[in-house]
Amino acid sequence: MGEVGMAGAAAVQFRVTVVGSGNWGSVAAKVIASNTLRLSCFHDEVRMWVFEEVLPGGEKLSDTINKNNENVKYLPGIKLGKNVVADPNLENAVREANMLVFVTPHQFMEGICNSLVGKIKGDVEGISLIKGMEVRKEGPCLISKLITDMLGINCCVLMGANIANEIAVEKFSEATIGYKHSKEVAERWVKLFSQPYFLVSAVQDIEGVELCGTLKNVVAIAAGLVDGLDMGNNTKAAIMRIGLREMRALSKLLFPSVRDSTFFESCGVADVITTCLGGRNRRVAEAFARNGGRKSFDELETELLQGQKLQGVSTAKEVYEVLSHRGWNALFPLLSTVHRICIGQLPPSAIVKHSEKPPKLSIVESSAEFY
Ligand SMILES: NC(=O)c1ccc[n+]([C@@H]2O[C@H](COP(=O)([O-])OP(=O)(O)OC[C@H]3O[C@@H](n4cnc5c(N)ncnc54)[C@H](O)[C@@H]3O)[C@@H](O)[C@H]2O)c1
Repeated sequence: MGEVGMAGAAAVQFRVTVVGSGNWGSVAAKVIASNTLRLSCFHDEVRMWVFEEVLPGGEKLSDTINKNNENVKYLPGIKLGKNVVADPNLENAVREANMLVFVTPHQFMEGICNSLVGKIKGDVEGISLIKGMEVRKEGPCLISKLITDMLGINCCVLMGANIANEIAVEKFSEATIGYKHSKEVAERWVKLFSQPYFLVSAVQDIEGVELCGTLKNVVAIAAGLVDGLDMGNNTKAAIMRIGLREMRALSKLLFPSVRDSTFFESCGVADVITTCLGGRNRRVAEAFARNGGRKSFDELETELLQGQKLQGVSTAKEVYEVLSHRGWNALFPLLSTVHRICIGQLPPSAIVKHSEKPPKLSIVESSAEFY
């Protein structure tokens, strides 16, 4: 165990559990585990909850992770750190933790939170690395809010230009933590994640940070469609700009406290760029357009992603529901069109048609500030 500090009693040791063990979950565990060994305020061991799977050779995924210190399915070739312990039992994995890092595909979070009710300690702080949202009758519910509501804990978010495989091999990148109230807690999370190759900063705009991370996956689908149609760099840059503009307008409409400056953090423009250049949503959307929409996104996800999950298609549907419910579709042509292409209602080429009718975004923003 790491040093407790000279005075012993004065030092609080925080115990971390990562809830999720996909591609990003495994990288997050690796980044965190090297810091918990180094920093005395954290307990050395990092638990990682694994949604158990049996590998083609018959071995359980959690057993191979513990034996080889590597997630052979979701992050092959990368050692996680010997202090990462894979645990397929969710209740057991969180029992001792007072810092919970949530990092699963968003569609599983409600079920996971249901299983965690009454199972976590009283002094727990959470952070969500999850991109996506839930749509409810009363409107969109961000995942950090879902966690707060269901578990009764404070929950920050971490988003950014973070393609997991690049951080796994320690290529320089940045990330943004969004927090609501406590700067002190946000700084503890900054400490837990920071590496010389991973610069993390905190901003007091949780909704802005989370909506950036969520909505950019829809823009990435649009960028992939443009790639699949061989439309070139100018078109792709235009899609990214229009997408970012719609992201900002929708975020501010939903949460008036969202700050413009958040869109210049890693979670904003940088994440739009990296996801539109290199992410899995872009890749699958490119394949969708190259196939002329004949293969569904579900088929392509299975074919191309080896168990990894697409987020952009389900987020596009959720965003569309929010827009339809509020009568805002015409204000957000790019975000709306992505969903209609995904479900086969429009051809992939429709992604650039919306520009023929520029939206009256001045309705939703004070026009001078928006343009
Ligand atoms: N991979 C990245 O580059 C990246 C970067 C930033 C953020 N994210 C976000 O992180 C989150 C997690 O993505 P990821 O890349 O770690 O996962 P992933 O897509 O690589 O893997 C899917 C994970 O879901 C698990 N799973 C499958 N069925 C399940 C079920 N029924 N219940 C619970 N879990 C189940 C699988 O075991 C696996 O761990 C997503 O919200 C994603 O948008 C990913």
